[in-house]
Amino acid sequence: MGRRKVTVIGAGNVGATTAQRIAEAGLANVVLIDIVEGLPQGKGLDLAEAAPVVGHDARIVGTNDYADTAGSDIVVVTSGLARQPGMSRDDLLAKNAGIVRSVVTAAAAASPDAILIVVTNPLDAMCHVALDASGFPRERVLGMAGVLDSARFRTFIAEELGVSVEDTHAFVLGGHGDTMVPLARYSTVAGIPITELLPPERIQALSERTANGGAEVVALLKTGSAFYAPAAAVFEMVEAILLDRKRVLPCAVLLRGEYGNRDLFVGAPVVLGAAGMERVIEIPLTADEQAAFDRSAGSVRELVDKLASLV
Ligand code: LAC
Repeated sequence: MGRRKVTVIGAGNVGATTAQRIAEAGLANVVLIDIVEGLPQGKGLDLAEAAPVVGHDARIVGTNDYADTAGSDIVVVTSGLARQPGMSRDDLLAKNAGIVRSVVTAAAAASPDAILIVVTNPLDAMCHVALDASGFPRERVLGMAGVLDSARFRTFIAEELGVSVEDTHAFVLGGHGDTMVPLARYSTVAGIPITELLPPERIQALSERTANGGAEVVALLKTGSAFYAPAAAVFEMVEAILLDRKRVLPCAVLLRGEYGNRDLFVGAPVVLGAAGMERVIEIPLTADEQAAFDRSAGSVRELVDKLASLV
């Protein structure tokens, strides 16, 4: 068997950085595809020419043709627009739903056994579009956001306590938006809940900064949004699947009654392995935590309902 194959749709910052991480780890051959002519080819060639220096043998090709993506093990969907001035959230929802529907339809036809990882925003709603357009089972349609959101929480906790990020684990549930639910009780440093290490008001401040994490980067960059941490998060998911690691990672997943919600993509901890989403892990929530989760799920539901009225 040859090297595994990962297609990355969208050759923007998130897509190209994801392609770079996967190839440079030697994890899989990478096909970078975009609608813009020359862009994926140029970035693909540039990445391929870095290989001798980096010292990896993964192949990277850029293309505009879905035929080149055939037989992919994983398809990462990053294409879509970022919010432009004067554009409402609903405009973005409609535009990106159209883009995600068309790219997923083409990619799923070329790779009917692939596992989809959706990155395009609004993330949880775009997972619904991808599920519908692909006809794949929920095990093979995942959204990346929980890993990113918990990475942000981990960064802030580790910085606050002056400890290694490696020993810092964090738990973030819910949709990828400002209603996300960082769970302090289940966030730990070397197994010690942060509720034992930090006063409630500091935990509150770090949780709020986490929920606002994407916007904080956008405000600094002014044009465009985060891509290093999002790409690192996608990489972690891809690696867990290709190496069948059974990693326990927070991902957007179609709930079927777990956490009291049904037929809705929301972030929850899952086991990631060769089959994709192999299991949703359900943990007991306090009444307050469940209420926060339901609020977050409610805001995802609103977007999904809006989507239905758009098409
Ligand atoms: C973020 C946006 C891109 O969280 O969703 O950075």
